[in-house]
Amino acid sequence: MTFVVTENCIKCKFTDCVDVCPVDCFHEGPNFLVIDPDECIDCTLCEPECPAEAIFAEDELPENQEHFIELNAELSKSWPIITEVKDPPADAEEWNGKENKIDLLEK
Ligand code: SF4
Ligand code: F3S
Repeated sequence: MTFVVTENCIKCKFTDCVDVCPVDCFHEGPNFLVIDPDECIDCTLCEPECPAEAIFAEDELPENQEHFIELNAELSKSWPIITEVKDPPADAEEWNGKENKIDLLEK
């Protein structure tokens, strides 16, 4: 099992999640974070920390978010590890809750 970052993180990227992860399994892209499924120990700590409610357990993903399992696994292989909280984008709150952000994901 692993936890998975889903679509609402795109362009929000609050990074509160990285502060609580005991095994440093978050990886950072230009406007999205992912979890390395090989490192996640399923501790559940990150899920309630995300202001965008973008983190779910793999087996509790919303219906249209299943493809993020593969995306987290794939992108965590090439993106660098992030361990410290940083300021979110200035317009993060405006993007919180917007639908269909997948096309805006920068790799
Ligand atoms: Fe890290 Fe725990 Fe979240 Fe997995 S569930 S990403 S180990 S904080
Ligand atoms: Fe993204 Fe939420 Fe972390 S918006 S960066 S998963 S705190």
